[in-house]
This record gives sequence, structure tokens and C-alpha cells, in this order.
Amino acid sequence: MKILVTGGAGFIGGNFIYYLLDQYPSYRVICYDSITYAGNLETLETALKNPFFKFIKGDISNSKQVFDCMECEMPDIVVNFAAESHVDRSIDNPGIFLQTNIIGTHVLLDASLKLGVKRFHQVSTDEVYGDLPLDRKDLFFTEVTPICTSSPYSASKAAADLLTLAYHRTYGLPVSISRCSNNYGPFHFPEKMIPLMIINALNDKPLPVYGKGENIRDWLYVVDHCKAIDMIIHNGRVGEVYNIGGHNERSNIDVVKMIIRELGKDESLIRYVEDRKGHDLRYAIDPAKIKSELGWVPEVSFDEGIKLTIKWYLENRAWWERIISGEYINYYKKMYENR
Ligand code: NAD
Ligand code: DAU
Repeated sequence: MKILVTGGAGFIGGNFIYYLLDQYPSYRVICYDSITYAGNLETLETALKNPFFKFIKGDISNSKQVFDCMECEMPDIVVNFAAESHVDRSIDNPGIFLQTNIIGTHVLLDASLKLGVKRFHQVSTDEVYGDLPLDRKDLFFTEVTPICTSSPYSASKAAADLLTLAYHRTYGLPVSISRCSNNYGPFHFPEKMIPLMIINALNDKPLPVYGKGENIRDWLYVVDHCKAIDMIIHNGRVGEVYNIGGHNERSNIDVVKMIIRELGKDESLIRYVEDRKGHDLRYAIDPAKIKSELGWVPEVSFDEGIKLTIKWYLENRAWWERIISGEYINYYKKMYENR
């Protein structure tokens, strides 16, 4: 079995590569990634020593590069993690999100169809459903919740989902889609809330909480997401969408206070800053379908997962210190200096 993992030098794709190499030692795993600001070959340092793993540098929206890679490797399964993934960047500059997330997915679908890939799996997000009100704790996103996006990021991911389903219905490409809630864990790029708060707190820098910190996210440890994708690509039904989430809803301010407590820091580090434009209020996944059809259940509680994550950031300072001392400095100033 040969699996092509696009975007494997990023956060979730990197974790998925380690998960595959560990679970399926006889599988060939190929990472295809263009190494944007969010991609990092240091994440794959250990994998690169494994003879069953190969890295190929390329852009998913470049048809020639994608066909060259796929004609040469002829993967059985393609799992597409490659994306521009940060909502704040999509608000600042939407164009690249359309190019990578929509055109890139289209190029991969086209190549997968022409080369007879046995399964194309699109890694999507709960953000395609828009948001839920804060005062209706009885409401959850199911697979039939209408697509109703808020940001250029989520709009581009929704477009990619629709294209994926179109390739199934129109051309018979065997596809599946997963829509997961917020992930956290090792190798998470420092622009995202959990790693940003851990790193700023460790450096005694202010913790920028958007708005009143009341927005709710449904957090899942990244390895639980990897396990769910594994189950879907091996046993999930073709043409289907599966929601992934572990019923772990927390307000942002609660998560920030938890990180502060774990690190023995003081709440005086918290700064309430200008809110994100169009900020989604609440995400909450109903995972009933993947539970009943595939038997998936999350294994890592938030209390355990946040401890594991903080420990990882403490033990892997070199990984994130190199990131925050580079181009990230300019990004941080632009996003936070006058907020
Ligand atoms: P990430 O930003 O950490 O990584 C994205 C990776 O894609 C990077 O390695 C980057 O170099 C690569 N990439 C970007 N553009 C590319 C291109 N044109 N060609 C080839 N490679 C390219 O993202 P992540 O947080 O790991 O998210 C992975 C996927 O999971 C995304 O599709 C995202 O929408 C989805 N997702 C993320 C979360 C989350 O909480 N992070 C939750 C649900 C779904
Ligand atoms: O729900 C899945 C999505 O989760 C994925 O599709 C996205 O790729 C991923 O980035 C994530 O999106 P969010 O916008 O929810 O994640 P982020 O870490 O950017 O923000 C989490 C919450 O924290 C959100 O309500 C905004 C808030 N926030 C974020 C940052 C970066 C802050 O309050 N301060 C911050 O500095």
C-alpha cells in the first residue's frame, strides 16, 4: 500500500505521517508539500530516516508538479492535508487561500481520477458549517448541517469539499471527506491560539484574547484526528462525509486560563484585544456517524492532552524558537501591534 500525504510538513499532516509509519510499518508513505511558511522539514526529521518514507517538494496547485509526482509514485490513496489554514491570514489576504485550497484540490482530484487512485480523502473542517449561537448548547453540527461559511478560509475549504463530491458524483472518483473540529498537540504552528498562548506565557509576553474570550471551540487531540482519518480511508464509505470531534467545548478564555495555571504563570498576562472580523461564535461537532459506522471514539481527554502538548513545547524549544525568530516576527507585529 502506498499513501500520498499532501501537506505532511504541517501540523496535522506531520502527525498523520508519524501515525501511519507507526501503525503500518509495511506501507510506503510519501509526503508532498511545497513548504510554505507553515511547512517545516524539521517536523519530518525522524520520518526522513525511515526507508519507507519519502519527501517530494511540490505545490498542489501546479498541475505539472502534481502529475510528475503521482505518475512516478502511483499511490493507492491520496490524503489531502495541504492548505492555507489560518483564518486571520485569510481575512488579511484571501487570494492564496483560493489558489491553494480550491485550485490545489482540483489539481489533485484531476490527477487522482486520471491515474486511478483507489481513494481520495479530503481533510476538511467543521468551519464549513459556519457557527452556532452561544446560548443554544443543544445544537451541534451534523453531516447534513447546511454549508454556511464565514471567512475566506472556510469558504475556500467548502468549495474544495463541493468539488470533491462533484468528482465522485460526476466521474465516479472514490472520495471521502472528514470535517474535524479544532486540533491541538505537537508541531502546531505558533500562530494558532493554543501554541501562541503557551509560547507567549513561557516568554512572559501578553496573551492576546480576541473580544471577550467567550467564543467556543471544540478541541481534539491531534492523534485522535489521525486515528479517525485512518478508519475512514480504510473502512469508511465512498462518497461520504464524516464529522470528527470529541464533545470537548471550551471558551477561549477558559483554555487560556488553563494554560496559565499549567505553566504556573499569572492571569495578569491576559490582554483583551480587538476581535477577529466575522468571528465564529461556537463550533460543536456531533460525531455520532463516525462512532456508529466505524467505532471511532476519542482517546485523549483535554486535561491529559493539554499537559502532553505543554510538555512537548517545553521539550522542543528549538523547533518553535527557530520559527518565532524568523519571518514570524513581522507577522506578529502586523497582526498584534496595533490591536
Ligand atoms: P498547517 O498550516 O499546519 O499545514 C499546512 C501544510 O500544507 C504545510 O506543510 C504547508 O507547507 C502545506 N501547503 C500549503 N500550501 C501548499 C501547496 N500549495 N502545495 C503543497 N503544500 C502546501 O495546517 P494544519 O493545521 O495541519 O491543517 C491541515 C489540514 O487540516 C488543512 O486542510 C486544514 O484545513 C484542516 N483542518 C485543520 C484543523 C486544525 O485545527 N488545525 C482542524 C480541522 C481541519
Ligand atoms: O475548527 C477547525 C479550524 O480550527 C481549522 O479548520 C483551522 O485550520 C484552524 O486554524 C482552527 O481555526 P480557529 O480560527 O478556530 O483557530 P485559531 O487557533 O486561530 O483560534 C482559536 C480561537 O482563539 C478563535 O476563537 C480565535 C481565538 N484567538 C486566536 C488567536 C490566534 C484568540 O483569542 N487570540 C489569538 O491570538
